[in-house]
Amino acid sequence: MKAAYYENHGSPADIQVGEMETPEAGPHEVLIRVRATSLNGFDPMMLAGTTDLKTPMPMIPCCDFAGEIASLGSSVRGWEVGDRVCPMPFVPGEGMTGETRRGAAAEYIVMPAVNLMKMPDAVSFEDAAALPIAYGTAYRMMHERARIKAGDKVLILGATGGVGVCAVDLAKAAGCEVIACGSSNWKLEKLKELGADHVVDTSKEDFEQVVRKLYGKPRVMGGGGVDVVINYIGGETWVKSLRCATLNGRVLTCGASAGHAPEEDLRFIWSFELNIIGSNGWRPDDQIKLLDMVASGELKPQIQAIRPLEETAQSMAQLIDRDVFGKIIITP
Ligand SMILES: NC(=O)c1ccc[n+]([C@@H]2O[C@H](COP(=O)([O-])OP(=O)(O)OC[C@H]3O[C@@H](n4cnc5c(N)ncnc54)[C@H](OP(=O)(O)O)[C@@H]3O)[C@@H](O)[C@H]2O)c1
Repeated sequence: MKAAYYENHGSPADIQVGEMETPEAGPHEVLIRVRATSLNGFDPMMLAGTTDLKTPMPMIPCCDFAGEIASLGSSVRGWEVGDRVCPMPFVPGEGMTGETRRGAAAEYIVMPAVNLMKMPDAVSFEDAAALPIAYGTAYRMMHERARIKAGDKVLILGATGGVGVCAVDLAKAAGCEVIACGSSNWKLEKLKELGADHVVDTSKEDFEQVVRKLYGKPRVMGGGGVDVVINYIGGETWVKSLRCATLNGRVLTCGASAGHAPEEDLRFIWSFELNIIGSNGWRPDDQIKLLDMVASGELKPQIQAIRPLEETAQSMAQLIDRDVFGKIIITP
């Protein structure tokens, strides 16, 4: 089969497209013809080898995907060749597809049958492939963990990325007031189109100052600041984001694009009785809900580009350069 892959950690220049052996489905697995897959914020980290995760080389990038069943393992029941599926990419015992097991930037991939999810007819392969990691994680973080509600003021850092655009969409749909951060003008215009009430150009403006200007400095007896901060950037943004939260505010983290061991300032956590809330991944029900939301037109995944497999390296470079709004889809 044709696949995009790398044989050692490095840069997008290490990604090549070529022939690899087509995997075979075991008795409880299915072979899937991949029709669309997508890149996520962790793909450049896996390529660079900056995580503690063990990468099976040669490594095929990309986690999320949608496709059609090409063949069934001997013990698989209830599925047929040709069924359109968007599987849950996490496999117990093997880990996440595209992290510790080979990814989906290939013509074929094998998945356990228990991971399969049927795609509604109205959902395209491209839209489905945009959903699992980024949209799934945003869905769980905003609803289950942050418990956003109408009227909440929600500050979203890195709002232009895959998780971010969905967080903006969900917060607006829930009736929140959204302050969305991004690093370039064209992406900020797109955030406004998505409904963000206020945008912050982090290449020119200090988001903490913008929050203070809009809502006042947070006060220990209440008032000022925002109700919810979404921060998967970490690094130097962490303490600044604590300083934006109102008394009893919720500060959410699901990642750390700019560093996972930032400086801390405990004074803000106790003085403002902040709730620091972790959020990790999503659950199968969230993915089903998102597929249904796309089918009904309630949600439209933000896709910047749909590209052939040959443009995987170029797309990865664009993600590293922070030149992407939402998602890039690869169609092997
Ligand atoms: N725990 C989980 O289950 C889980 C699941 C999904 C994602 N995550 C994590 O959540 C984060 C976002 O994921 P994603 O897929 O949305 O990534 P993404 O598409 O690359 O978006 C991240 C956004 O953050 C902004 N950013 C600010 N500082 C950055 C920096 N130093 N490096 C890179 N980007 C920076 C960029 O926007 P501007 O350039 O416009 O500022 C970028 O658009 C990642 O850290 C990822 O690992 C965790």
